[in-house]
Amino acid sequence: MSQEHKVGTALITGASSGIGAVYTDRFAKRGYDVILVARDEARLNALASKLHAQYGIAAQVLPADLSTEAGIRAVENRLEADASITLFVNNAGIARLGALAEMPKQDISDIIQINVHAASRLAAAAARAFTPRKAGRIINVASVLALISERFNPIYNASKAFVLSLSQSMQNELSPLGIKVQAVLPGATRTEIWSRAGADISVLPPEMVMGVDEMVDAALAGFDRDEVVTIPSLPDAAEFDAFTQARLKMGPNLSRDHAAARYHTAAVA
Ligand SMILES: NC(=O)c1ccc[n+]([C@@H]2O[C@H](COP(=O)([O-])OP(=O)(O)OC[C@H]3O[C@@H](n4cnc5c(N)ncnc54)[C@H](OP(=O)(O)O)[C@@H]3O)[C@@H](O)[C@H]2O)c1
Repeated sequence: MSQEHKVGTALITGASSGIGAVYTDRFAKRGYDVILVARDEARLNALASKLHAQYGIAAQVLPADLSTEAGIRAVENRLEADASITLFVNNAGIARLGALAEMPKQDISDIIQINVHAASRLAAAAARAFTPRKAGRIINVASVLALISERFNPIYNASKAFVLSLSQSMQNELSPLGIKVQAVLPGATRTEIWSRAGADISVLPPEMVMGVDEMVDAALAGFDRDEVVTIPSLPDAAEFDAFTQARLKMGPNLSRDHAAARYHTAAVA
């Protein structure tokens, strides 16, 4: 049996550029057949041809606009119908800058539609496909902004906090069924997302910005260790573990039959 038949097929959204394009290259290099999803068909075709020639794997393109119901359905259908798919990289996303009060309404809708709605629909489709097989891997690309609500843009940050929460809930639900979920939280990474958002990445201190190849290779090191949350920049993983422990410690007290003592007023007593 050839290597590609052992590892199966990876479907990657946002494969036409940046993080998704590097993931596609790396999984093709590992012997996966790949299905490339994004809107720009010419770019997808060029990358698919290159990867086929370079690694000898099968590379197919699935052009889809994830801001539309038709686009989401096309990818959902593929995830559910193609039993060769063993890995789903839920990566497509957009960013916008600016204060909430100054954001165009369409930008708010677009971020939620792609980063939250499409990402959720496709995560669920992968879960439906993988559950009967009791196998499969899902990578959700979130952002460190899931953890830093005080910077950047409120809607983008919240969309990525959603992806982190979704991933942790998915891991909790799906790992007993044999499906592994990883959330990847990149810091600022040198890709087109910045110029697409009308931002100039060069205004950031260079020590804050990672190259896209290094970011994805680090995320893949976390993937190979079955990490549930991978933060490529974070030097001390114990810091995130402590954060998680602090969150879980609150668990038993987050829903109780009486208000906490500090809220006891005449009306509550
Ligand atoms: N770069 C960073 O600093 C950074 C940091 C943290 C997290 N992230 C996250 O990483 C992920 C990838 O971003 P990136 O930095 O690689 O940005 P990018 O280079 O702009 O890539 C975004 C990808 O998403 C696709 N996409 C955008 N809108 C789409 C739509 N309506 N339908 C289908 N595909 C769509 C784009 O392809 P088409 O234009 O061809 O459709 C492209 O392939 C995103 O989820 C982003 O939020 C990035």
